[in-house]
Amino acid sequence: MVSRVIPVDPFDLVIFGATGDLARRKILPGLYRRDLAGQLPDEARILGAARSELSDGAWRNEIRAAIEEHVPADRQDGAALDRFLARLGYLQVDATGEAGWQALADRVRPDVVQAYYFSVGPSLFGALAERLHRHGMNREDCRIVVEKPFGHDLASAKALNATLAAHFEEHQIYRIDHYLGKETVQNLMAVRFGNMLFEPLWNAQYVDHIQITVAETVGVAGRGGYYDRSGAMRDMVQNHMMQLLCLIAMEPPYAFEPDAVRDEKLKVIRALDPVAPGDIVRGQYAAGNGQASYLDDAENPDSRTESYVALKAHVSSWRWKGTPFYLRTGKRLRARTSEIAITFKDPPHSIFGEQEGQKSNALVIRLQPNEGIKLKVTIKEPGPGGMRLIEVPLDMSFAEALGPEAADIPDAYERLVMDVIRGNQTLFMRGDEVEAAWAWTDPIVAAWEAKGDRPQPYDPGSSGPEDALMLMHRDGRRWREVRP
Ligand code: BG6
Repeated sequence: MVSRVIPVDPFDLVIFGATGDLARRKILPGLYRRDLAGQLPDEARILGAARSELSDGAWRNEIRAAIEEHVPADRQDGAALDRFLARLGYLQVDATGEAGWQALADRVRPDVVQAYYFSVGPSLFGALAERLHRHGMNREDCRIVVEKPFGHDLASAKALNATLAAHFEEHQIYRIDHYLGKETVQNLMAVRFGNMLFEPLWNAQYVDHIQITVAETVGVAGRGGYYDRSGAMRDMVQNHMMQLLCLIAMEPPYAFEPDAVRDEKLKVIRALDPVAPGDIVRGQYAAGNGQASYLDDAENPDSRTESYVALKAHVSSWRWKGTPFYLRTGKRLRARTSEIAITFKDPPHSIFGEQEGQKSNALVIRLQPNEGIKLKVTIKEPGPGGMRLIEVPLDMSFAEALGPEAADIPDAYERLVMDVIRGNQTLFMRGDEVEAAWAWTDPIVAAWEAKGDRPQPYDPGSSGPEDALMLMHRDGRRWREVRP
């Protein structure tokens, strides 16, 4: 299966923070891969802007090294890389001063799509937005792209929204949540709204509960400063997991269009009940397997920040009242795996009597690794000698079902940056969505901060703290295993 590539319009993409980690690891390797796939027109240009003094050539060399490091060997192509690097130019720009701005304004072409990627900390968003405005670069159809963390709480998110709104319209602001760029996350919408099979069952009458797991094996070493001010709740739940929950819980939008989708997501967030303190478990990884503990990685020996959180959430709507959503995410766990599991209720009556092999149906959407969708169904165990039931998966690994081309799934950033150029905001968060997510998160965090409890230690390589198991056990349910 060869995927279709539709070239985007000619563009100038300016990346502020061009020498930073995100630009080197994600944005530029992603753009290179889109170029390799034939999606960038000849007139596409990428301008790096940062504080360091660098020539065009020196920045290109940095990016060459970054692409060689971060793009798999089978996607390395010397001629394509040279062609890509020729699109790159560099400008020394002082985000909070005056240096470089006029040169940038002179360099951006007036007759192509203009996009400005703020790949910098949020404290610089205001300075960049104001200078783009002052130097006449906030043309009505230009776009700005901002990264998380979008705020630390509701008040700071509101302040950031107001800062950006002073110079740009909402339709120009692309707030990235890279989970929305993941192929399987979009597939979730295709499965729900492209099939008749699931939607009639997609409600509290038929769904027992939903589990969303984002487990990671990495710790926070190297970014302990940021992480320690954030923690799993702010770093993962308020944004990525909230977005997953929204896509599962939302009503069908009238079209796959930006505001239609975002309106429905916003309704879900607003329908979330406050989470009771007893429905949350926080954990912190201990030392083990020769690896440092969270407290070592975070550098604050007394840190009470959580590297793991599990919670039970309720969406108070006609569709979902009574069906709990269990969310968990953590670092240094047994495996890197992200999945959503929709567990259906048992049949109202078993005509086969009590049978061990009869399990609840589950639809498991695997986000990473090994992207795919699995439906667990009960069948008869083959062979004579009575009716014995077993559970089997109807398994669709995308790589197997769609062939080797599909195994080369684009990275989230590749898709999202192309969507910016196309002017499609469907997979980006609107300002009111982000604020609503903080409005739900803030009281949860405030409650545990007021109590001052320590998170429970858990062993690295485990599936999290013991109490997280209890969160489900006491409801007569269990977490799916965290497996690679
Ligand atoms: C980032 C978080 O937004 O997402 C990180 O800040 C986390 O802490 C990362 O590791 C996970 O992303 P992915 O795509 O590797 O699942």
